[in-house]
Amino acid sequence: EKVVLAYSGGLDTSIIIPWLKENYDIEVIAVCGDVGQEDNMKDIYQKALNSGASKAYVDDLSEEFVTETIFKAIKAEAKYEGKYLLGTSLARPIIAKKLVDVAHLEGAKYICHGCTGKGNDQVRFEASIAALDPNIKVIAPWRIWNIKSREDAIEYAAKNNIPVIATKEKIYSVDANLWHTSTEGGDIENLENEHKNDIYKKCVPLENVCDKAEYVEIYFEKGVPKKVNSIELSPVELVKTLNNLGAKHGIGVIDIVENRLVGMKSRGIYETPGGTILYEAHNILESATLDKETLHFKQIVSFKYGELIYNGLWYSKLREAIDEFIETTQDNVTGSVKIKIYKGNLKPAGIFTENALYDESISSFGDSELYNHEDAQGFINLFTLPLKIKAMKTINDDII
Ligand code: ARG
Ligand code: SIN
Repeated sequence: EKVVLAYSGGLDTSIIIPWLKENYDIEVIAVCGDVGQEDNMKDIYQKALNSGASKAYVDDLSEEFVTETIFKAIKAEAKYEGKYLLGTSLARPIIAKKLVDVAHLEGAKYICHGCTGKGNDQVRFEASIAALDPNIKVIAPWRIWNIKSREDAIEYAAKNNIPVIATKEKIYSVDANLWHTSTEGGDIENLENEHKNDIYKKCVPLENVCDKAEYVEIYFEKGVPKKVNSIELSPVELVKTLNNLGAKHGIGVIDIVENRLVGMKSRGIYETPGGTILYEAHNILESATLDKETLHFKQIVSFKYGELIYNGLWYSKLREAIDEFIETTQDNVTGSVKIKIYKGNLKPAGIFTENALYDESISSFGDSELYNHEDAQGFINLFTLPLKIKAMKTINDDII
């Protein structure tokens, strides 16, 4: 029998290898998806084998990550609870797909992940696996074994000759990828504590940002970003370029209390520098190119889409259906947006598009052929009729 393990190279997933062999008498195939976490993939490959995996796959999934999930999220401007740009949630379906592909390739009946029993990630992995191949069985060690602390884990590693890199006490739970870095746990579990600057993995703290304003111009084609400052970039390069730019100006840090799918609230610090610039630029372009009713309806859909992604339902009919809706809304969302970036702020600095529904001659304060000021009077009479009726009835009731 074989099991495919979602492997990160860290202590937690490394000790899973001997544990699986000990408890299931099974061959372990480690899979580490590179979604831009900037770890040394060669080292991870070697570490998987040194820890007892019979085979390891380390594959670059960054391009897929950007084109399959991130670009869709940008078009939808999907967020969770109004703020979180879904960095972890968007990577999980891509990694899960890889795990299932390798399971098929290797003829493995089991997939194992290192998520805890208290988080969202376990749900995301297992929902994706269920949708892609309902016959695969999942093993989730953190929900069943008796390793409960970091000390237990280190002890178990030593017993099984797993190299533990002598790092200082791991205080935070960090998930990093091309789109974001999330930090949870440690001192930020206390809501009274301000998060410390030294937790930042991508962004420069506001106190130290570059003190010169900088412009960036992003060109979108049907809602998909294609160029930065007139230079055409590959999807991965585009995100990296904007990450570097955003990071040095302290863009895209949020510190939130969110509602996990599994019931509890949790505190998280997220750094999404490039993503924050992209969402803002897309939003500005859409404000000029999308008609009112479609825009307002899209906001409702976007809310649902963000929730669905957060809850791990990427491989669902609803996600596909929403994507088709979003896709048609993007027909007209082509053009460039210039943004001024300064000390953690983004300021619109020009919209350049032939598709604008904004018309200066109609919108400006003077008279125009299409808009007759006198029409407004009749419009307001009808529009305010319900208010008048309500007020009249209330007054009559008061008299009685
Ligand atoms: N709370 C965020 C989410 O649910 C981040 C989770 C980070 N995951 C992790 N394994 N550290 O998407
Ligand atoms: C975990 O519990 O494994 C990480 C946090 C989360 O999944 O929400």
